[in-house]
Amino acid sequence: MENEKKEQKSAWFRDQRDFWWNDDFIDLLAQRWRLADAESLADIGCGLGHWSRLLFPHLRSGARLLGVDRQGEWLRCAREIFNDAYPASVAAGRVEFQQSDATALAVCSDAFDVVTCQTLLMHLAEPFEGLNEMIRITRPRGLVICVEPSNLFNMLSFDSFTSENDTETLVQDYEFWLRFQRGRIALGKGDISLGELLPGMFAQSGLTDIRVHLRDKAFPLYPPYAGAEQSATLEPIHEWEKSETGPWDYDQVRRYFLAGGGDEATLAAQFSRMREEAQRQSRAISDGRYHSAGGATVYIVSGRKP
Ligand SMILES: C[S@@+](CC[C@H](N)C(=O)[O-])C[C@H]1O[C@@H](n2cnc3c(N)ncnc32)[C@H](O)[C@@H]1O
Repeated sequence: MENEKKEQKSAWFRDQRDFWWNDDFIDLLAQRWRLADAESLADIGCGLGHWSRLLFPHLRSGARLLGVDRQGEWLRCAREIFNDAYPASVAAGRVEFQQSDATALAVCSDAFDVVTCQTLLMHLAEPFEGLNEMIRITRPRGLVICVEPSNLFNMLSFDSFTSENDTETLVQDYEFWLRFQRGRIALGKGDISLGELLPGMFAQSGLTDIRVHLRDKAFPLYPPYAGAEQSATLEPIHEWEKSETGPWDYDQVRRYFLAGGGDEATLAAQFSRMREEAQRQSRAISDGRYHSAGGATVYIVSGRKP
Protein backbone atom coordinates (compact mmCIF):
# COMPACT_ATOMS: atom_id res chain seq x y z
CA MET A 1 0.00 0.00 0.00
CA GLU A 2 2.83 2.41 0.92
CA ASN A 3 4.55 1.61 -2.39
CA GLU A 4 1.31 2.11 -4.29
CA LYS A 5 0.86 5.52 -2.62
CA LYS A 6 4.42 6.55 -3.48
CA GLU A 7 3.89 5.55 -7.10
CA GLN A 8 0.60 7.43 -7.28
CA LYS A 9 2.21 10.50 -5.76
CA SER A 10 5.00 10.48 -8.34
CA ALA A 11 2.61 9.71 -11.21
CA TRP A 12 -0.14 12.18 -10.32
CA PHE A 13 1.54 15.01 -8.54
CA ARG A 14 4.63 15.72 -10.60
CA ASP A 15 5.90 19.29 -10.76
CA GLN A 16 4.34 19.60 -14.23
CA ARG A 17 0.88 19.65 -12.62
CA ASP A 18 1.63 23.17 -11.39
CA PHE A 19 1.68 24.26 -15.05
CA TRP A 20 -1.51 22.56 -16.18
CA TRP A 21 -3.51 25.69 -16.89
CA ASN A 22 -2.98 29.13 -18.41
CA ASP A 23 -4.16 31.74 -15.92
CA ASP A 24 -6.04 33.76 -18.56
CA PHE A 25 -7.86 30.60 -19.66
CA ILE A 26 -8.99 29.96 -16.08
CA ASP A 27 -10.26 33.58 -16.03
CA LEU A 28 -12.23 32.84 -19.21
CA LEU A 29 -13.70 29.62 -17.80
CA ALA A 30 -14.65 31.43 -14.59
CA GLN A 31 -16.55 34.00 -16.67
CA ARG A 32 -18.27 31.35 -18.79
CA TRP A 33 -19.34 29.48 -15.66
CA ARG A 34 -20.20 32.69 -13.76
CA LEU A 35 -18.21 31.46 -10.78
CA ALA A 36 -18.49 34.91 -9.20
CA ASP A 37 -22.14 34.03 -8.42
CA ALA A 38 -21.21 30.73 -6.73
CA GLU A 39 -21.21 30.54 -2.94
CA SER A 40 -19.99 26.97 -2.63
CA LEU A 41 -17.84 24.53 -4.58
CA ALA A 42 -16.95 20.87 -3.99
CA ASP A 43 -13.88 19.35 -5.64
CA ILE A 44 -14.19 15.56 -5.72
CA GLY A 45 -10.96 13.53 -5.88
CA CYS A 46 -9.21 16.79 -5.02
CA GLY A 47 -5.76 15.29 -4.36
CA LEU A 48 -3.50 18.17 -3.32
CA GLY A 49 -6.11 20.69 -4.47
CA HIS A 50 -4.40 21.76 -7.71
CA TRP A 51 -7.76 22.32 -9.45
CA SER A 52 -9.80 23.94 -6.67
CA ARG A 53 -6.91 26.25 -5.77
CA LEU A 54 -7.31 27.78 -9.23
CA LEU A 55 -11.11 28.10 -9.04
CA PHE A 56 -11.45 29.22 -5.42
CA PRO A 57 -10.41 32.89 -5.90
CA HIS A 58 -13.05 33.25 -8.66
CA LEU A 59 -15.95 32.30 -6.36
CA ARG A 60 -18.11 34.90 -4.64
CA SER A 61 -16.33 36.49 -1.69
CA GLY A 62 -16.88 34.39 1.44
CA ALA A 63 -17.65 31.25 -0.55
CA ARG A 64 -16.99 27.84 1.00
CA LEU A 65 -15.03 25.00 -0.50
CA LEU A 66 -15.06 21.29 0.21
CA GLY A 67 -12.26 19.04 -1.03
CA VAL A 68 -13.01 15.31 -1.01
CA ASP A 69 -10.55 12.50 -1.57
CA ARG A 70 -10.32 8.90 -0.45
CA GLN A 71 -6.69 9.35 0.61
CA GLY A 72 -6.19 11.16 3.90
CA GLU A 73 -2.54 11.87 3.12
CA TRP A 74 -3.42 14.02 0.09
CA LEU A 75 -6.06 15.84 2.15
CA ARG A 76 -3.55 16.72 4.88
CA CYS A 77 -1.19 18.16 2.22
CA ALA A 78 -4.08 19.98 0.51
CA ARG A 79 -5.10 21.60 3.79
CA GLU A 80 -1.54 22.86 4.39
CA ILE A 81 -1.27 24.19 0.84
CA PHE A 82 -4.65 25.97 1.11
CA ASN A 83 -3.67 27.33 4.50
CA ASP A 84 -0.59 28.93 2.95
CA ALA A 85 -2.55 30.29 -0.02
CA TYR A 86 -5.82 31.34 1.68
CA PRO A 87 -5.16 31.52 5.44
CA ALA A 88 -8.18 33.72 6.24
CA SER A 89 -10.63 31.37 4.47
CA VAL A 90 -9.18 28.32 6.24
CA ALA A 91 -9.22 30.07 9.63
CA ALA A 92 -12.87 31.08 9.06
CA GLY A 93 -13.78 27.42 8.41
CA ARG A 94 -14.74 28.13 4.82
CA VAL A 95 -12.30 25.53 3.43
CA GLU A 96 -12.89 21.95 4.52
CA PHE A 97 -11.60 18.56 3.51
CA GLN A 98 -13.30 15.23 3.85
CA GLN A 99 -12.10 11.68 3.36
CA SER A 100 -14.78 9.91 1.40
CA ASP A 101 -15.26 7.70 -1.62
CA ALA A 102 -16.37 9.49 -4.78
CA THR A 103 -18.99 6.82 -5.42
CA ALA A 104 -20.60 7.21 -1.96
CA LEU A 105 -20.05 10.79 -0.81
CA ALA A 106 -20.74 11.60 2.84
CA VAL A 107 -22.34 14.88 1.73
CA CYS A 108 -26.02 15.99 1.78
CA SER A 109 -27.94 16.14 -1.49
CA ASP A 110 -28.43 19.51 -3.26
CA ALA A 111 -25.68 21.10 -1.15
CA PHE A 112 -23.29 22.89 -3.56
CA ASP A 113 -23.57 25.53 -6.28
CA VAL A 114 -20.68 23.97 -8.20
CA VAL A 115 -19.41 20.40 -8.04
CA THR A 116 -16.30 19.59 -10.01
CA CYS A 117 -13.53 17.08 -10.55
CA GLN A 118 -10.28 16.98 -12.46
CA THR A 119 -8.88 13.60 -13.57
CA LEU A 120 -10.99 11.62 -11.11
CA LEU A 121 -13.61 9.81 -13.21
CA MET A 122 -10.84 8.31 -15.39
CA HIS A 123 -9.74 6.32 -12.30
CA LEU A 124 -13.12 4.85 -11.44
CA ALA A 125 -14.28 1.38 -12.47
CA GLU A 126 -17.80 2.78 -12.81
CA PRO A 127 -17.43 6.47 -13.71
CA PHE A 128 -21.24 6.94 -13.83
CA GLU A 129 -21.34 6.18 -10.11
CA GLY A 130 -18.95 9.08 -9.49
CA LEU A 131 -20.77 11.43 -11.86
CA ASN A 132 -24.18 10.60 -10.36
CA GLU A 133 -22.88 11.30 -6.86
CA MET A 134 -21.54 14.65 -8.06
CA ILE A 135 -24.96 15.45 -9.51
CA ARG A 136 -26.70 14.36 -6.33
CA ILE A 137 -24.79 16.86 -4.17
CA THR A 138 -25.25 19.73 -6.68
CA ARG A 139 -28.17 22.04 -5.95
CA PRO A 140 -30.92 22.26 -8.59
CA ARG A 141 -29.72 24.57 -11.44
CA GLY A 142 -26.19 24.22 -10.02
CA LEU A 143 -23.21 23.41 -12.21
CA VAL A 144 -21.31 20.14 -12.62
CA ILE A 145 -17.87 20.46 -14.21
CA CYS A 146 -15.61 17.53 -15.13
CA VAL A 147 -12.10 17.77 -16.55
CA GLU A 148 -10.84 14.50 -18.04
CA PRO A 149 -8.18 13.75 -20.66
CA SER A 150 -7.89 11.70 -23.80
CA ASN A 151 -4.62 10.06 -22.80
CA LEU A 152 -4.41 7.35 -25.44
CA PHE A 153 -4.29 10.14 -28.00
CA ASN A 154 -1.87 12.14 -25.83
CA MET A 155 0.54 9.20 -25.54
CA LEU A 156 0.76 9.01 -29.32
CA SER A 157 1.32 12.65 -30.20
CA PHE A 158 4.39 13.31 -32.36
CA ASP A 159 7.67 14.92 -31.40
CA SER A 160 10.83 15.51 -33.43
CA PHE A 161 11.77 11.85 -32.89
CA THR A 162 8.58 9.87 -33.18
CA SER A 163 7.48 11.80 -36.29
CA GLU A 164 10.36 10.05 -38.07
CA ASN A 165 9.61 6.53 -36.81
CA ASP A 166 8.55 4.03 -39.45
CA THR A 167 4.90 3.12 -39.81
CA GLU A 168 5.36 -0.35 -38.26
CA THR A 169 6.87 1.14 -35.10
CA LEU A 170 4.07 3.70 -34.80
CA VAL A 171 1.44 0.99 -35.27
CA GLN A 172 3.18 -1.06 -32.54
CA ASP A 173 3.06 1.96 -30.22
CA TYR A 174 -0.64 2.36 -30.88
CA GLU A 175 -1.33 -1.32 -30.25
CA PHE A 176 0.74 -1.27 -27.06
CA TRP A 177 -1.01 1.69 -25.48
CA LEU A 178 -4.41 0.59 -26.73
CA ARG A 179 -3.93 -2.81 -25.00
CA PHE A 180 -2.73 -0.92 -21.90
CA GLN A 181 -5.90 1.19 -21.96
CA ARG A 182 -8.23 -1.76 -22.60
CA GLY A 183 -6.52 -3.88 -19.91
CA ARG A 184 -6.81 -1.05 -17.40
CA ILE A 185 -10.55 -0.82 -18.07
CA ALA A 186 -10.92 -4.61 -17.87
CA LEU A 187 -9.21 -4.61 -14.45
CA GLY A 188 -11.60 -1.93 -13.16
CA LYS A 189 -8.95 0.79 -13.00
CA GLY A 190 -10.78 3.26 -15.23
CA ASP A 191 -10.51 4.68 -18.74
CA ILE A 192 -7.52 6.97 -19.45
CA SER A 193 -9.45 8.46 -22.39
CA LEU A 194 -12.71 9.04 -20.54
CA GLY A 195 -12.78 12.68 -21.65
CA GLU A 196 -14.05 11.51 -25.04
CA LEU A 197 -17.17 10.03 -23.43
CA LEU A 198 -18.04 12.81 -20.98
CA PRO A 199 -20.58 14.82 -23.02
CA GLY A 200 -22.62 11.66 -23.68
CA MET A 201 -22.40 10.69 -20.01
CA PHE A 202 -23.64 14.16 -19.01
CA ALA A 203 -26.58 13.87 -21.42
CA GLN A 204 -27.41 10.35 -20.21
CA SER A 205 -27.34 11.55 -16.59
CA GLY A 206 -29.95 14.21 -17.36
CA LEU A 207 -27.70 17.29 -17.16
CA THR A 208 -28.74 20.22 -19.35
CA ASP A 209 -26.92 23.21 -20.95
CA ILE A 210 -23.98 20.92 -21.68
CA ARG A 211 -20.88 22.75 -22.83
CA VAL A 212 -17.72 21.09 -24.10
CA HIS A 213 -14.35 22.85 -24.28
CA LEU A 214 -10.73 21.86 -24.71
CA ARG A 215 -7.95 23.04 -22.41
CA ASP A 216 -5.71 25.47 -24.31
CA LYS A 217 -2.45 24.50 -22.57
CA ALA A 218 0.46 22.82 -24.37
CA PHE A 219 3.81 21.73 -22.95
CA PRO A 220 6.30 22.59 -25.69
CA LEU A 221 9.93 21.60 -25.51
CA TYR A 222 12.53 23.40 -27.58
CA PRO A 223 16.17 24.31 -27.05
CA PRO A 224 17.56 25.60 -24.76
CA TYR A 225 14.66 24.13 -22.67
CA ALA A 226 14.71 27.19 -20.42
CA GLY A 227 12.48 27.79 -17.43
CA ALA A 228 10.78 25.79 -14.70
CA GLU A 229 7.96 24.59 -16.95
CA GLN A 230 10.21 22.95 -19.55
CA SER A 231 12.32 21.43 -16.74
CA ALA A 232 9.18 19.90 -15.26
CA THR A 233 8.13 18.59 -18.69
CA LEU A 234 11.54 16.96 -19.14
CA GLU A 235 11.29 15.11 -15.81
CA PRO A 236 9.93 11.80 -17.23
CA ILE A 237 12.69 11.71 -19.86
CA HIS A 238 15.34 12.20 -17.15
CA GLU A 239 13.75 9.39 -15.15
CA TRP A 240 14.76 6.92 -17.87
CA GLU A 241 18.38 7.83 -17.02
CA LYS A 242 17.84 6.66 -13.44
CA SER A 243 15.70 3.57 -14.00
CA GLU A 244 15.35 0.72 -16.51
CA THR A 245 11.64 1.45 -16.78
CA GLY A 246 11.75 5.23 -16.77
CA PRO A 247 8.71 7.02 -15.39
CA TRP A 248 6.56 3.88 -15.61
CA ASP A 249 5.62 1.44 -12.88
CA TYR A 250 6.63 -1.64 -14.84
CA ASP A 251 4.51 -4.16 -12.90
CA GLN A 252 1.44 -2.03 -13.32
CA VAL A 253 1.99 -1.47 -17.06
CA ARG A 254 2.64 -5.22 -17.44
CA ARG A 255 -0.62 -6.09 -15.64
CA TYR A 256 -2.68 -3.74 -17.79
CA PHE A 257 -0.98 -4.73 -21.06
CA LEU A 258 -1.43 -8.45 -20.43
CA ALA A 259 -5.05 -7.93 -19.35
CA GLY A 260 -5.56 -6.09 -22.64
CA GLY A 261 -4.45 -9.15 -24.59
CA GLY A 262 -0.71 -8.35 -24.86
CA ASP A 263 2.10 -10.88 -24.43
CA GLU A 264 5.36 -10.90 -22.46
CA ALA A 265 7.66 -10.84 -25.50
CA THR A 266 5.99 -7.73 -26.95
CA LEU A 267 6.08 -6.06 -23.53
CA ALA A 268 9.83 -6.68 -23.17
CA ALA A 269 10.52 -5.48 -26.73
CA GLN A 270 8.41 -2.35 -26.26
CA PHE A 271 10.09 -1.36 -23.00
CA SER A 272 13.53 -1.95 -24.47
CA ARG A 273 12.65 0.28 -27.44
CA MET A 274 11.12 2.98 -25.24
CA ARG A 275 14.31 2.97 -23.18
CA GLU A 276 16.51 3.30 -26.27
CA GLU A 277 14.31 6.11 -27.54
CA ALA A 278 14.52 7.92 -24.20
CA GLN A 279 18.32 7.60 -24.25
CA ARG A 280 18.39 9.04 -27.77
CA GLN A 281 16.10 11.81 -26.60
CA SER A 282 18.38 12.60 -23.66
CA ARG A 283 21.37 12.88 -25.98
CA ALA A 284 19.38 15.05 -28.41
CA ILE A 285 18.30 17.31 -25.53
CA SER A 286 21.93 17.69 -24.45
CA ASP A 287 22.78 18.61 -28.05
CA GLY A 288 19.74 20.91 -28.38
CA ARG A 289 18.17 18.85 -31.20
CA TYR A 290 14.95 17.58 -29.57
CA HIS A 291 11.65 19.46 -29.79
CA SER A 292 7.93 18.87 -29.42
CA ALA A 293 4.76 20.98 -29.40
CA GLY A 294 3.54 19.09 -26.34
CA GLY A 295 -0.18 19.15 -27.04
CA ALA A 296 -2.34 17.22 -24.58
CA THR A 297 -6.05 16.84 -25.16
CA VAL A 298 -8.07 17.50 -22.03
CA TYR A 299 -11.85 17.96 -22.19
CA ILE A 300 -13.69 20.38 -19.95
CA VAL A 301 -17.36 19.49 -19.81
CA SER A 302 -19.99 21.36 -17.82
CA GLY A 303 -23.71 20.93 -17.40
CA ARG A 304 -26.58 22.12 -15.20
CA LYS A 305 -28.62 20.00 -12.86
CA PRO A 306 -32.30 20.36 -13.83
C1 LIG B 1 -5.00 12.05 -10.76
S1 LIG B 1 -5.37 12.50 -9.14
C2 LIG B 1 -6.14 14.09 -9.41
C3 LIG B 1 -6.11 14.97 -8.21
C4 LIG B 1 -6.69 16.37 -8.41
N1 LIG B 1 -8.07 16.33 -8.83
C5 LIG B 1 -5.84 17.14 -9.42
O1 LIG B 1 -6.33 17.35 -10.54
O2 LIG B 1 -4.71 17.48 -9.10
C6 LIG B 1 -6.79 11.48 -8.78
C7 LIG B 1 -7.30 11.71 -7.37
O3 LIG B 1 -8.53 11.00 -7.22
C8 LIG B 1 -8.52 10.34 -5.97
N2 LIG B 1 -9.41 9.19 -6.08
C9 LIG B 1 -9.29 8.12 -6.90
N3 LIG B 1 -10.32 7.29 -6.73
C10 LIG B 1 -11.13 7.86 -5.80
C11 LIG B 1 -12.36 7.48 -5.19
N4 LIG B 1 -12.98 6.33 -5.53
N5 LIG B 1 -12.90 8.31 -4.29
C12 LIG B 1 -12.29 9.47 -3.93
N6 LIG B 1 -11.12 9.87 -4.46
C13 LIG B 1 -10.55 9.07 -5.37
C14 LIG B 1 -7.07 9.97 -5.75
O4 LIG B 1 -6.78 9.72 -4.39
C15 LIG B 1 -6.36 11.19 -6.29
O5 LIG B 1 -6.17 12.17 -5.33
